[in-house]
Amino acid sequence: MESEFIFALCNPGAENALKLEAESMALGWRLSYQRRGFVTFKADGPFTLEALDAPLACARRLCLSLGRAPTRDEALRRIEAAAVIHHARYFERKMQGLPCAACLRIGQLVGTVVELGPTEFWAGLHRHAPFLSPDPAGDSGVVMPLESPSRAWLKLEEAVRFFALPLTPADIVVELGCAPGGVVLALLQRGISSVGVDPAKMAEVVLASAIANRSDTPPDKPWFFHCRKPAALASKRDLGPGVSWFMSDMNQSPEVVLKECARFCKMAPGIRGVLITLKLTDLLQISDKARWIAALTDMGFPTIRLQQLSVHHKEFALLGMRSGDVRIAVRP
Ligand SMILES: C[S@@+](CC[C@H](N)C(=O)[O-])C[C@H]1O[C@@H](n2cnc3c(N)ncnc32)[C@H](O)[C@@H]1O
Repeated sequence: MESEFIFALCNPGAENALKLEAESMALGWRLSYQRRGFVTFKADGPFTLEALDAPLACARRLCLSLGRAPTRDEALRRIEAAAVIHHARYFERKMQGLPCAACLRIGQLVGTVVELGPTEFWAGLHRHAPFLSPDPAGDSGVVMPLESPSRAWLKLEEAVRFFALPLTPADIVVELGCAPGGVVLALLQRGISSVGVDPAKMAEVVLASAIANRSDTPPDKPWFFHCRKPAALASKRDLGPGVSWFMSDMNQSPEVVLKECARFCKMAPGIRGVLITLKLTDLLQISDKARWIAALTDMGFPTIRLQQLSVHHKEFALLGMRSGDVRIAVRP
């Protein structure tokens, strides 16, 4: 299967960062056509499905392009070979995926129809693979519950779905920058306990599960321990035993967050995965991505993914895992 073009779906506004990222990876891809949330590339030779393995953080989905069509039916005709069809559209200033009930299997051929206007449809193909979103256009469509104190709830839920994160109630997560508690709430709802590090106040909805001392963990229900300090002052004693995941959502530069990540991984050697929200002042800082990935490699994480999620603005999710073991995460 070959095509002269590939297309990428991205967050509207991330097109320039996507082009810069492709350029900095020396992929040999050249811009061919661009709309908000949609960029096509060409290269010297034809693309195959393997070209879609390029780990582009700014692309929520990459497809072999089967071209532009004037109607949805015509676009669908071009991807008849696909086992599952996804529909996406640029609507209300977002690149949206339309809900799809089908559950994707690794290796399955997926067809995507992208609607950019009343007579502009694009057809594309890709194979589902580990660490690719199972959702059309990489848009989870997950709706945040009213009781969530922050949008960070969505960041956690979308990352779990996008990467199929193997988080279970046996895990204990330490989260730097945990206030007011959207991530902690999402974890509690998944039955997962956490130690949150943040000098700021937590919302009542998560304080209901708070324990006063790290040594007082209830055996039968998930708990939350608030270490009310800046990250740099948190110690091994604050963490306690059994921490298996590191997360950070601190409003700090990638350098500060990665430095703390390295320190926490030393304090808690049982950490098997890290999920960090990297907050940038400008998306073009994506040109620093090799440095962020090298920092996680130095910490001993062989499986690393950097990804902009649909819920992100000037942010990226940086994931590191000790093993490539990926399971389909169970939604609460
Ligand atoms: C975007 S908010 C986090 C939202 C939170 N994760 C949630 O789920 O609701 C950023 C937080 O980072 C915290 N923060 C900034 N610098 C920090 C530091 N050095 N140590 C700990 N927390 C920090 C701030 O106090 C703020 O509460």
